[in-house]
Amino acid sequence: MAKVLVIGGGGREHAIVDALSRSSKVEKIYCAPGNAGIAAQAECVPLKDTQVNELKDFALENGIDLTVVGPEASLALGICDIFREAGLAIFGPSKAAAMIEASKDFAKQLMKKYSVPTAAFETFEDYDKALEYVRKGSFPVVLKYDGLAAGKGVVIPETFEQADEALRDMLLDGRFGKGRVVIEEFLTGPEFSFMCFVNGEQVSPMTLSQDHKRAWEGDKGPNTGGMGAYSPVPLISEEDIRFSLENIMKPVARAMVAEGCPFSGVLYGGLMKTPEGVKVIEFNCRFGDPETEVVLPRLESDIYDIFLAVAEGREIPQMKWSDEVTLGFVLASKGYPGSYEKGFPIDLGEDVPGTRIFHMGTALSSDGQLVTSGGRVLMVVGHGKDFACAKDAALKKVNAISCSNLFHRNDIGWRIF
Ligand code: AMP
Ligand code: GLY
Repeated sequence: MAKVLVIGGGGREHAIVDALSRSSKVEKIYCAPGNAGIAAQAECVPLKDTQVNELKDFALENGIDLTVVGPEASLALGICDIFREAGLAIFGPSKAAAMIEASKDFAKQLMKKYSVPTAAFETFEDYDKALEYVRKGSFPVVLKYDGLAAGKGVVIPETFEQADEALRDMLLDGRFGKGRVVIEEFLTGPEFSFMCFVNGEQVSPMTLSQDHKRAWEGDKGPNTGGMGAYSPVPLISEEDIRFSLENIMKPVARAMVAEGCPFSGVLYGGLMKTPEGVKVIEFNCRFGDPETEVVLPRLESDIYDIFLAVAEGREIPQMKWSDEVTLGFVLASKGYPGSYEKGFPIDLGEDVPGTRIFHMGTALSSDGQLVTSGGRVLMVVGHGKDFACAKDAALKKVNAISCSNLFHRNDIGWRIF
């Protein structure tokens, strides 16, 4: 029986811990740092996801058989290289392979070189040249800061003046630090998240999901980490999935091997079904959040076997997915994704059949009260035979929760209803 360490402390990690707790091979789960909800299913360890050397020492001292990494921050710091050098099994990509998320330019150049469909682009370091390029192009245009920018590195200006202001921020005034900007053609169409387990050239697709990135109903307001999701995605055909696997995910996995940075872990394709076919918006080098909270509850296979096979470079076992669908609402602190206050008491209310709660940003106060402690606080996921059942159950549970400082979108899944 195995001891597993999960790194991270959000809803994604709660869903990973929950899936591992269903494994017949796992006897003990630790989570660093975890959160108040995760604490019910795992022993929380007070180490941050960026304390990569301390995490390695913890794994060595506690006889951890497998470590599973949630956040990109740990991956970009090279946690997998550090663990592997110490002889520890870890699920996630090397620092070199994590570049596919950490650098927009790396990802775009790779797609260009290997003819993977994506928006046309140019990369600039010089403000004047970037401005000249934008002046000649059309609007809206997409500006992506080249580096990890906590989801705030993408700006879509409608006018030349707005583009100028954003380019100044990114290239002249050092608001993001010294860097580069990828300027991209604006694409249209529904987006979907295609997460695959990847082990060198082997690519094993998970079921699809769709995130809702804007803060407010009707897909209005600022971009967030995600306000809700559902799985699978009826809008995307079997043919689109086959195309995405054969022409995007597999070629990229082979390209990473050819470039000397083979990928291991979850490769997340943020894809868009445009009028000219499916194209890549972005890649992430890890599970998506909130996508993981609607995808992993549908996995019927033992996730420990999958994680361990990928970590050890063995063939990934076949996966079985439930026919039941999932749909979930994120409850976020008022003010998110801008500034918000923490520490508001939460009453989770009565149980509602067909739902589960994943904690994204919760803590226990000194007197044991569950309180808010992040921008995104809870995710309520409903499951059922169809999306109407899943949504009804989830909303019933959302309405049973009381807290004076939370908001949510009621229109998750609007494209399917
Ligand atoms: P990213 O961080 O690259 O996922 O970008 C954040 C969001 O900006 C995406 O989810 C899209 O909604 C939007 N976006 C990014 N690139 C494009 C593009 N080329 N065309 C249209 N929308 C885009
Ligand atoms: N939900 C999008 C992401 O995890 O990046």
